[in-house]
Amino acid sequence: MKEIFNVAIIGCGIGRSHIVEGYAPNADKFRVLALCDLNPERMNPIADEFGVPRRETEFDAVLAMDDIDIIDICTPPMLHYPMVLAALRAGKHVICEKPLVGSLAQVDEVIAEEKKSKGMLMPVFQYRFGDGIEQAKAIIDAGIAGKPYVGTVETLWTRGPDYYAVPWRGKWATELGGVLMTHAIHQHDLFTYLMGDIKRLFGRVATRVNDIEVEDCVTASLELENGALGSFTATLGSAQEITRLRLAFENVTFESDHEPYNPGNKPWTILPRNAETREKIEALLAGWQHVPSRFQTQMARFHAALTGQAPLPVTSADSRRALELVTAFYHSSTTHEDVELPLGTEHPRYSSWVPPQFQKA
Ligand SMILES: NC(=O)c1ccc[n+]([C@@H]2O[C@H](COP(=O)([O-])OP(=O)(O)OC[C@H]3O[C@@H](n4cnc5c(N)ncnc54)[C@H](O)[C@@H]3O)[C@@H](O)[C@H]2O)c1
Repeated sequence: MKEIFNVAIIGCGIGRSHIVEGYAPNADKFRVLALCDLNPERMNPIADEFGVPRRETEFDAVLAMDDIDIIDICTPPMLHYPMVLAALRAGKHVICEKPLVGSLAQVDEVIAEEKKSKGMLMPVFQYRFGDGIEQAKAIIDAGIAGKPYVGTVETLWTRGPDYYAVPWRGKWATELGGVLMTHAIHQHDLFTYLMGDIKRLFGRVATRVNDIEVEDCVTASLELENGALGSFTATLGSAQEITRLRLAFENVTFESDHEPYNPGNKPWTILPRNAETREKIEALLAGWQHVPSRFQTQMARFHAALTGQAPLPVTSADSRRALELVTAFYHSSTTHEDVELPLGTEHPRYSSWVPPQFQKA
């Protein structure tokens, strides 16, 4: 069986971090054989730095390379949909940055294509990996935490004019959304991953921090399928950057580390309600093996999936759930009504969550 997979990275912004955190520490599993970027001045120094032999400016040239096993898509959001479809149709394995695509209709099309393709598709949700988040998940999955009661998610980040000077950012047509879709999507994924699927939500969005089309402040009130409640707040105008999830279960309250871009890494504050629960947690976590955070573990587990040793660590169904939340959120914020999930083909925002005034005629 193949052990080392050849990777081509498309887009050299976050694509560089995929090398530094994901492929370099897993050099026994992956070899980055090609980089592709429209901008050679950005791509070539990165290719030199990491000894990547092939440099291309044309995506199709990379797709045509028979010895490339994995296409890792790190381009601006509006390009994910055509590139994911093309890569799956070419029989490649695909990794794709968030957001996977730009609507529920597109994600359903991608899921259908994935079923036909010989390639596997793994969307990026790197915040799911690390000691803190994985210990919390293990305690919940073991049934120790008990019934979920309430949870809060705070994404208090900072972005200003420099960030939005990049032309694709801040616009519906190219970024596909604002703080909800681009930034808080990670933390909201962690919330549903740990607390359960969403049944209803009421969302509000506002643009208050930057002179952009898309939103940069959001709040929501949520009810989950299991009856638990949640609230989300996110802004790009915080004086101090933190990420915080605080989740109250019947037997345990969890609080994430506040590291904005890696809240899953360090051990979380775990508050058991009584001595019996404390003992169960200690027994469960005795001998815990350190889990490197973010891309290092996500890529290592992708390799385990490719070699048939484990399921995919993040799936297109996970992306659909995240995009369903985004769709419901934007719909609620324009109708000022509660939105009930799941959202299917009949939903008025199924083909696009972009507000009507920003949709092209
Ligand atoms: N997971 C995370 O934490 C995280 C962090 C940052 C960005 N992202 C996501 O990664 C994606 C890229 O974001 P970024 O900040 O790296 O953007 P960026 O603008 O810094 O980099 C994108 C690169 O893609 C290149 N590119 C554009 N069109 C291309 C094409 N047709 N073919 C080849 N290359 C092309 C650009 O030249 C640019 O160098 C976005 O979807 C973003 O949401 C994810």
